[in-house]
Amino acid sequence: IASCLVGSEMCIRDRNKKLKGKKILITAGGTREKIDPVRYITNASSGKMGLALADNAYRMGADVTLVSTFKADKPYKNIVTETALEMEKAVKENLSGQDCVIMAAAVSDYRVENCAENKIKKQGGVLELKLVENPDILKSICKTPNKIICGFCAESENLLENAKAKIQKKGCDFLIANDISRKDIGFNTDENEVYIIDKSLNIKHIEKDTKENIAQRIL
Ligand code: C5P
Repeated sequence: IASCLVGSEMCIRDRNKKLKGKKILITAGGTREKIDPVRYITNASSGKMGLALADNAYRMGADVTLVSTFKADKPYKNIVTETALEMEKAVKENLSGQDCVIMAAAVSDYRVENCAENKIKKQGGVLELKLVENPDILKSICKTPNKIICGFCAESENLLENAKAKIQKKGCDFLIANDISRKDIGFNTDENEVYIIDKSLNIKHIEKDTKENIAQRIL
């Protein structure tokens, strides 16, 4: 009986290690673009979805690299970045040999052209900031051969319409779309409800669930 139990336990563990031998890079969190030494432009992403993907990929046996905007004390490789440019560098330096890349990070589309060296003083009236466009990391890596590339798409209106246009514009294999107009899912919550869209515009709905369970379904 004991050997049977050990055997079946091993069976379950092996069955769950579906990503054994696979290398996967995941980005998580919201990038921060400096205005001056103490102020920055960022967004409401908590990084929970990306972290849940990294944790579950690791549990499933994958060799995980997490590129995040926060430090994650985990048994897998973690590269901490702050800005979109830093994230781009970390992704590109670690791209070689990856089987799959999932870009769950909310990357700032713009950065301040000239970050002030010293804290900006209140001067009264209007303060103008000049923003320049950041590189689109996802779009730029989509032509890399032999990889499954997956992006995320957070929309506050016309979710599926915008997601279908976005997957074609970006050129990724899959896009995970979530509705951020709802308070109960998406940004900064523990739950999500997503649609997985593929290149041929097939859509799979994953009903509301914890980000842990959603991560497993995506993987
Ligand atoms: O902001 P947007 O809706 O374009 O984000 C969709 C996807 O593109 C996300 O996966 C995000 O990580 C990625 N992205 C990126 N570089 C940017 C903006 C977004 O890689 N500058």
